[in-house]
Amino acid sequence: MAIQETGDLVTIRLCATRDIPAGEVIRVDLDDGRALAVYNLDGEFFATDDLCTHGDASLAEGEVDGGKILCPFHMGSFDIRTGEAIGAPCSIAVRTYCVSVAGDDVVIDA
Ligand code: FES
Repeated sequence: MAIQETGDLVTIRLCATRDIPAGEVIRVDLDDGRALAVYNLDGEFFATDDLCTHGDASLAEGEVDGGKILCPFHMGSFDIRTGEAIGAPCSIAVRTYCVSVAGDDVVIDA
């Protein structure tokens, strides 16, 4: 993880775009202790907290199904773009992050 400053914009580098094949998700551990699930949906990148809001499960170990992520524990699901819980037993949204691509890097606002 690297913090990058471009003018007034401060971002955190998550990974390279090539690190996530289309339709896949990876886990990225930040230096501050947060763990994020980072997704590639047909060349668009998104990030959510990695921890499922229903239990102690890593969403990055789940399955991307179109625009949703299926939790590996109880198969609840979230909208990857909005974080909305869309499949039981999940009922609480997962936090999302503002993701952008800078060159070959996937970054979030710091
Ligand atoms: S822990 Fe994710 S659906 Fe239960």
